[in-house]
Amino acid sequence: MYGAQEPQASNPFYSRERFLQRLDGYRAAPGYQLIVARENDRLVGFLYGYVLPPGARWWSKVEPPLPEEFTRESGDRTFAINDMVVAADRRRRGIARAMHAELLAAHPGMRFTLTVRPDNTPARSAYQRWGYRIVGRQQPYPDSPVFEMMVLESSAT
Ligand SMILES: CC(C)(COP(=O)(O)OP(=O)(O)OC[C@H]1O[C@@H](n2cnc3c(N)ncnc32)[C@H](O)[C@@H]1OP(=O)(O)O)[C@@H](O)C(=O)NCCC(=O)NCCS
Repeated sequence: MYGAQEPQASNPFYSRERFLQRLDGYRAAPGYQLIVARENDRLVGFLYGYVLPPGARWWSKVEPPLPEEFTRESGDRTFAINDMVVAADRRRRGIARAMHAELLAAHPGMRFTLTVRPDNTPARSAYQRWGYRIVGRQQPYPDSPVFEMMVLESSAT
């Protein structure tokens, strides 16, 4: 679903095999949720993530380190979005916005977090437009890019 010109296309971290490996782990997590966008029979977008459990490692490598109170997870505090992709020929039509709005509606009162490459202008712009703020950076795997960590605080807290 990535366009051939995107940096993701050439990095082994984004290979099909590695993607499926990571997905297996995420799918096993309590609170895993997948949202898809379809156009007739065609899958044109997806978004998935899970609820961070108590003691989640999500925040453990963030630089600069965040206050303990901020990173303390209860199992119902934070939804982590692992990935969000819209088919290259279907972008800028509000599909990501609609999938994200559906996710928020399904988790009232929770905060949301995700990571983004600093050079990923479309995604970064979308997240900032939706109210996310950058809280730090981290490299989750030795061969992964360095990502910005973003958080959208719940409007109910
Ligand atoms: C990021 C992505 C999911 C956005 O999907 P989308 O359906 O095109 O997004 P939307 O149409 O809902 O746009 C939402 C907002 O994002 C911003 N945005 C989206 N694409 C943009 C671009 N190319 N340049 C600047 N801003 C952009 C805009 O603010 C837009 O709102 P607007 O159209 O009202 O101005 C899509 O570009 C994508 O799949 N990229 C490749 C995969 C990827 O990088 N995923 C994110 C991993 S962190």
